[in-house]
Amino acid sequence: MSERLEDIARAMVARGKGILAADESTGTIKKRFDSINVESTEDNRRDYREMLFRADEAMSNCISGVILFEETLFQKAKDGTPFVDIIKAAGAVPGIKVDKGAQALSGAGIEKVTEGLDGLRDRLKKYHDAGARFAKWRAVITISATTPSHNCIHANAHALARYAALCQETGIVPIVEPEVLMDGEHSTHTIERCEEVTTWALKEQFQELYYAGVSMEGMVLKPNMIVPGQKSGQKASVEEVAERTVRVLKNCVPAAVPGIAFLSGGQSDEEATAHLSAMNAAYDLPWNLTFSYGRALQAAALKAWLGKPENVAAGQRAFTHRARMNALAATGEWKADLEKAA
Ligand code: 13P
Repeated sequence: MSERLEDIARAMVARGKGILAADESTGTIKKRFDSINVESTEDNRRDYREMLFRADEAMSNCISGVILFEETLFQKAKDGTPFVDIIKAAGAVPGIKVDKGAQALSGAGIEKVTEGLDGLRDRLKKYHDAGARFAKWRAVITISATTPSHNCIHANAHALARYAALCQETGIVPIVEPEVLMDGEHSTHTIERCEEVTTWALKEQFQELYYAGVSMEGMVLKPNMIVPGQKSGQKASVEEVAERTVRVLKNCVPAAVPGIAFLSGGQSDEEATAHLSAMNAAYDLPWNLTFSYGRALQAAALKAWLGKPENVAAGQRAFTHRARMNALAATGEWKADLEKAA
């Protein structure tokens, strides 16, 4: 495969494919395993991820890239094959989460800033040597009655821009992920507020990327969709989510960016698919719009697996189904009755 940033970025958002986010940190994967009463040991994490990466049909036809946690980048399948080789053999690009998580932003109450810039240049070289060709850094922005602050939006956008510039210097495509969370506590977290805050965060983000000299052609944006907060009591139709999300992106994202790969952020599996499909079906857009889902691709597979070797085939079927549905959504061809048929 070509080593040019633009070609890697285009491969990551290839038409009709999307990204599997399997980069849960040690803390997050423990939470996922707790939900199915499985202990989070290194072997169990390996077995679970091997189940996903060896789902050949899903991986070859629907998945363009896989985001890994550091442990998995250097890990081998049970038979000794490096995971990176399994992913590459399926025609997908291996990627790596490089941020060190969101920490309390000093003096800013509930707000957070993502850390991990110190020593990042050296870590990126090591990840590139291990086969990673893209990276991910996630910032979180919380909506409440008094947040976000400009300090939080700016600090996160600046860190993301510094991270992105370091990635490109090392031959790695940065996924830039400024996530406006949907699980805020506040009743004023309406869809209108989500639209306003996401616009602000993205305007600031692309300004900082410009100042840092980041090439638009060699990056991928990973945004949230425009949805009402989970505790707002508001409901929005699929069409409304699609319309508002497209409006924000058109206002904020340069056409030189090859693709936008959404996070699922706590939407149900089917909502995440329906929203993506609606955008691709109804709008003519300058970028490819696809998925980079964690929960919305894995939740069903995790439940089918339950940590038991005899359930691996069932887990792979569940993952393959969601991967297929989302691959169809990436070209606007998903229909609700395809879910029932399965
Ligand atoms: P979710 O799709 O579960 O939000 O995860 C995507 C991701 O990688 C968040 O950084």
